[in-house]
Amino acid sequence: MNRREFLLGSGATAGALGLGCIGLAAGAQELVVQPASFALRDQVTTGMVSLSPDAPPPVLHGKQGEVMRLPVRNTLPDYTAMHWHGLRIPNDMDGVPYLTQMPIGPGEVFDYEFTPPDAGTYWYHPHCMTMEQMAHGLTGVLVIAEAADPGFDSEQVINLRDFRLNDDGSFLPAYTARGAARAGTFGNVQTVNWLDGPVYDHVAGSLVRLRVVNTDTTRIYKVHLNGAEARIIAWDGHPVEVDFPLPSADDPLLIGPGQRVDFALKMPLGEGQTVDLMAKFPGQPNRSMTRLRAVGAPVSRELRELRPLPVNPTTKPDLANAELHEFVFGWTPEGGEPTNGFCGSLGYNFWSINRRPWPGDAAKGVGPLATLQRGKSYVLRLRNESPNLHPIHLHGLAFVPIKSNLRPLPPLLTDTMLLLKDEVVEIALVADNPGDWAFHCHVIEHQKTGLTGYIRVD
Ligand code: C2O
Ligand code: CU
Ligand code: CU
Repeated sequence: MNRREFLLGSGATAGALGLGCIGLAAGAQELVVQPASFALRDQVTTGMVSLSPDAPPPVLHGKQGEVMRLPVRNTLPDYTAMHWHGLRIPNDMDGVPYLTQMPIGPGEVFDYEFTPPDAGTYWYHPHCMTMEQMAHGLTGVLVIAEAADPGFDSEQVINLRDFRLNDDGSFLPAYTARGAARAGTFGNVQTVNWLDGPVYDHVAGSLVRLRVVNTDTTRIYKVHLNGAEARIIAWDGHPVEVDFPLPSADDPLLIGPGQRVDFALKMPLGEGQTVDLMAKFPGQPNRSMTRLRAVGAPVSRELRELRPLPVNPTTKPDLANAELHEFVFGWTPEGGEPTNGFCGSLGYNFWSINRRPWPGDAAKGVGPLATLQRGKSYVLRLRNESPNLHPIHLHGLAFVPIKSNLRPLPPLLTDTMLLLKDEVVEIALVADNPGDWAFHCHVIEHQKTGLTGYIRVD
């Protein structure tokens, strides 16, 4: 019996006996995965998925180095599992069905408990029935505060995401086969925290930490800020230690699905003056996604008063002694039909890693794409041989890009590398977190049609 069969067998038994419910951790608020409705535009959209009946998934707050207890209760008729994107936590808390845990069945609870080692902007989403639940709303932001307060006056979380809706507010199918085989299927309604261009008030002249998260299933957001003195202070959760120029209308910042950017900004001094987060959509002029409005008597703060964010405790890879592994992302050689577990299949294989499409959730006999030795340094060469862009995400480990065949890449610690058309990027990491770590494209249609696998750290 292989590992997956074992997991499947033991989990099925545990479910039947009701052992899937481990009970509530003391003092922890349950996260209840449930159906929701919300007026994303003028009409109420039903059939959404959230953690409350009528609101977006909340921003979850934790503190670096402090334990978090997050019991997840599933009240949907489908299976689920919750993943904490970007957190370097123990493998059995990573929320990947069949790889790190059994999917959470209807009526079951899974007690997630972990201590985030890193501060920064992260997010959470299901890793089972991913297309269905994420596309219908279940993507939330996870803020891990630094142990010492960096000195902002306020914070603003921006969850960017699209929905695919009919004019009457009902959902269009979340994807098309045509889209899945190409760049993905784009939503037609853009939202910020599920709202259409919300305006948030912050004190005039104050220092705001703007945490922008792209939780969309498909879209690569192209953003810049208008109207504020600002600085980029973190990228994909981790403090930026190098010069990172501010994006502009002509040179916007590309934020792939799953990626995050933190800005430090100073609110304008005049009451009513605004700062806009601008985004560029194909064939349209730049558009304001959300606006911060200066209110009240101005305070006089300066960006230079901010202490630099403390560096997260990651280990720098030893490039001189790093072993190289190659990965090719492309179309699948044969488009065989994937098998399905409890976690939803789109019914196609279009994509592959190293010419092998992922054979489907609960697949049997699928080995790791690579096995890394704990504590050693590695270079992973990521080759995109397709014309489409792929935000390639690795769970459980932080990595740093070291070179590209197309562009200079700042060495910013990350968990997601946006591969451009025909791009080859080398990334480096220390395999310091043991376990089986999912490795996939974060365009969910690509992930669910073959572009996924896992890397084992022994
Ligand atoms: Cu954000 Cu495997 O996920
Ligand atoms: Cu992840
Ligand atoms: Cu992709």
